[in-house]
Amino acid sequence: MELNNAVALVTGANGGIGGHFVDRLLQSGVAKIYVCARSINKLQNLVALDPQKIIPIELDVTNPQSVAAAAAKCTDVSLLINNAGTSLNHGIISAPDLDAAKAEMDVNYFGMASMCRAFAPILNRQGGGAIVNILSLLGKVNLPFSGSYSASKAAAISMTQSVRAELAAQNTLVVGVMPGTVDTDLAKAWPDPKVAPAEVARAALQAVVEQQEDVYPGEQAAQVSAQLLADPKGVEKYMATFLPGMELAGTNA
Ligand SMILES: NC(=O)c1ccc[n+]([C@@H]2O[C@H](COP(=O)([O-])OP(=O)(O)OC[C@H]3O[C@@H](n4cnc5c(N)ncnc54)[C@H](OP(=O)(O)O)[C@@H]3O)[C@@H](O)[C@H]2O)c1
Repeated sequence: MELNNAVALVTGANGGIGGHFVDRLLQSGVAKIYVCARSINKLQNLVALDPQKIIPIELDVTNPQSVAAAAAKCTDVSLLINNAGTSLNHGIISAPDLDAAKAEMDVNYFGMASMCRAFAPILNRQGGGAIVNILSLLGKVNLPFSGSYSASKAAAISMTQSVRAELAAQNTLVVGVMPGTVDTDLAKAWPDPKVAPAEVARAALQAVVEQQEDVYPGEQAAQVSAQLLADPKGVEKYMATFLPGMELAGTNA
């Protein structure tokens, strides 16, 4: 899909990766970008980049009314970027309860699914278009100190495959992006190395242009995804040893 003259919508646009999506989309010559955040006040800096092209939208992906209102306003979207996400850094057993796990599932899985459902008919009217789901390498292997986040991303990876199959007939490209650790607030507690958020946006949008379904931005993601194919149990055992503050130097798997 060509980005030139596309109409994009970015969820979590005020976040670390979200802002870089907006920059890249502007450089790519899109016609319009709906930038979405839970609080419209957090979008002023982005709108100032190009007030003609950038439209702020208040959106909480966990609220069905909010999702429906966004879909009712943004009826010309041809590129949906499901970037909003949350990580509360809890294990499954060590967490005081399952509240964090439920909150992560609500945003990372149900919120993303809800956006795909709301915008599928809109993309269909644009001839198919594309959905970019920002998933995570941690959906492929669990980092136990953030175990419930990994579980929510695993659910989102599976959901992405379903959406891809279900929307194939309407010619919608569905891209799954699985970065390793990205240098944003969300990953403050996670081990190095960290890929730059600009690289995640670049790789994801290149995949849209090149019709590539699965993307692993950065060296760490490419390396670990290859190791997962070669020795999934070895990678699982290696990741199980990690604690906040440690450096992920290589899995030897
Ligand atoms: N950083 C990493 O290492 C990493 C690695 C792999 C994948 N990812 C994924 O990349 C995506 C972007 O994360 P980031 O690293 O850029 O983190 P970030 O800076 O914390 O951005 C997360 C964004 O999601 C928004 N958000 C959270 N809950 C929301 C909700 N209910 N409705 C709408 N928006 C909501 C946040 O808005 P508020 O400002 O309102 O909270 C924020 O704009 C996430 O899906 C994340 O899981 C990140």
